[in-house]
Amino acid sequence: MNRIFDTHTHYDDKAFDDDRDVVISGLFENDVCCAVNQGTDIASSEFGIKLAEKYDGIYAAVGLHPECLNEDSIKQIDTVKQLALHKKVKAIGEIGLDYYYDVPKPLQKTVFEAQLILAGELSMPVNIHDREAHGDVLEMLKKHRPKGIVHCFSGSAEMAVEVVRLGMYIGMGGVVTFKNARKAVEVIENIPMGSLVLETDCPYLAPVPFRGKRNDSSMIKYVAQRIAEIKNISADEVLKITRENAQKIYDIELSEVK
Ligand code: NI
Repeated sequence: MNRIFDTHTHYDDKAFDDDRDVVISGLFENDVCCAVNQGTDIASSEFGIKLAEKYDGIYAAVGLHPECLNEDSIKQIDTVKQLALHKKVKAIGEIGLDYYYDVPKPLQKTVFEAQLILAGELSMPVNIHDREAHGDVLEMLKKHRPKGIVHCFSGSAEMAVEVVRLGMYIGMGGVVTFKNARKAVEVIENIPMGSLVLETDCPYLAPVPFRGKRNDSSMIKYVAQRIAEIKNISADEVLKITRENAQKIYDIELSEVK
């Protein structure tokens, strides 16, 4: 039984165009049981579904990422809904707020909120992107009470505790292995293992010793190793608990995965 459950990937990214099938097939030889590919727009959501149809261990989330919005985005929510009905779609994502980029805040909030409402209607979990928008993201979570993951968590330990109190999970990846990861380490110290999941956000954010290189789900073992040190448990336990957490969120029985 493979142990790594990667809750957040972008295998549709052009960084994998030359060798996507080799990379994905290789994952299952390298301790990866599952990866959930996140949609950023309609095309990438559809691409993720194609990958999920091709590989047993790949699942898809569908959604509109805050960096990818335009005037048509609100009209595309209906398409997201149609795509979400596919049996290998397990979440609405990647959705959220990103105040680092120059996409108008009112548009971001409208599309984020519409997708939170959609997830509620469909009783599906969400995968949330929060970049420099902690206050507004937290406000939306309190208002709509979605289930799911705040991915690549970059808020304070206090915010993490609030997110956990709302019943959501904290996604952690390569950043925890970086030298300047003080904030992420504090977050991990302050939340229970039962509220933590692992992710890559690949092709981005490869862990040390591969920082700056192309990331893939097999590299999660370095993230697990670092979290094991922080939590003073074994890397085995980190992988087991986070895999069980991810299965619970995405409602995936491992007997489904060959
Ligand atoms: Ni992402």
